[in-house]
Amino acid sequence: MRRKILAGNWKMNLTPLEARQLIRALRAAIDPEAAALARDRDVLVAPPAVSLAAAAQELAGSNIALAAQNMHYEDQGAFTGEVSAPMLKALGATHVILGHSERRHLFGESDELINRKVRAAVKHRLVPILCVGETQQEHDAGKTTEVILRQTRSGLEGLDGRAAARAIIAYEPVWAIGTGRTATPAQASLVHGTIREIVAERFGTECAGAVRVLYGGSVTPDNVDGLIASHDIDGALVGGASLKADSFARIVRTRAA
Ligand code: PGA
Repeated sequence: MRRKILAGNWKMNLTPLEARQLIRALRAAIDPEAAALARDRDVLVAPPAVSLAAAAQELAGSNIALAAQNMHYEDQGAFTGEVSAPMLKALGATHVILGHSERRHLFGESDELINRKVRAAVKHRLVPILCVGETQQEHDAGKTTEVILRQTRSGLEGLDGRAAARAIIAYEPVWAIGTGRTATPAQASLVHGTIREIVAERFGTECAGAVRVLYGGSVTPDNVDGLIASHDIDGALVGGASLKADSFARIVRTRAA
């Protein structure tokens, strides 16, 4: 059985002080059930880089893991404005979101660049959360499978089976992100199945059975149960609804997990 994952991607929101406040409120809401929740699910939050240290302090003693939203593939050097895997690890991050569609489409990140980051994350024992997903245009043109194939294959290139099995893949259709339009559980399941087939082809069925594939894109307390009930959907990567303690707490408590 794959453990479910409920992950909050805060994007460019919340200063260190605000991050502390949100985590305190979230812990107040879920700590009483923490032991039960920890049995079958992983919870993580991804604050912006400047709020990671404050978040790590507030998360101490909880079962909530800390993720970063991006990183550079080099360990150090003349890369103004960037942060590296060793820096994120020093702040307590255990996971890193890579290839988010906002990175791909607003900041021009290529499949090759994202793959370098994935490999650097693995090298430093940060768990990569590789995001893949088609745009509205690609969706309408019937290119979903083609895009998912390319982004998944390229994202995992150069990994060995063990690293691939530990990696997390997030299917986030770009047309569903921040739009209030969610993929139906059936639509998402279909793509999740495709992702698992791609992993099986490259790394074998055992690895494909272990890799966790999350859905992201307008996940809310109202639709999370239906999505997560699907066998192929191993959890959710949540943007907007992770910024309020009560809504994210409700998502974390999803009954279907
Ligand atoms: P959303 O964002 O939940 O606000 O749609 C999801 C994401 O981009 O990870």
